[in-house]
Amino acid sequence: MTLLKILDLPDLGDERGGLTVIESSRLIPFKIKRLYYLVGTRINVSRGFHAHLSLDQVAICIAGSCRIVLDDGKEKAEIVLNSPLKALKLEPMVWHEMHSFSKDCILLVLASEYYDESDYVRNYNDFKMMVEYRA
Ligand code: TYD
Repeated sequence: MTLLKILDLPDLGDERGGLTVIESSRLIPFKIKRLYYLVGTRINVSRGFHAHLSLDQVAICIAGSCRIVLDDGKEKAEIVLNSPLKALKLEPMVWHEMHSFSKDCILLVLASEYYDESDYVRNYNDFKMMVEYRA
């Protein structure tokens, strides 16, 4: 099973410029309740370093680039997101880290639930133990 699940977004661009569209519960396989974006991330800053118990998310680098590391407790994978037409799925119980943000990076994240701190697993050892326990 590959950790890197990419959704290709429709390219509706023409000679005037780019256009893409995301419809809740259609191309994105959940109802979008929340979106947030990381912008102006300082040089050498990495973010994330958590997993979610049940939240579904997708991340789209709508400007610039960043590198995302995914880890399901058994294998790790990484990808450079640098296209507004690629959406990376961030599934529950996948540890994720964001690194190497370009100065102009805007990372848009669509989420299936409202913000809930109790859904976060922020300690990597706890995450590994939960993966073992669930196996
Ligand atoms: P956090 O999830 O720690 O950022 P990251 O893991 O991407 O580095 O979020 C930073 C702060 O913002 C934290 O106090 C929680 C808060 N927050 C919200 O209140 N609502 C949200 O939707 C998000 C994503 C974060």
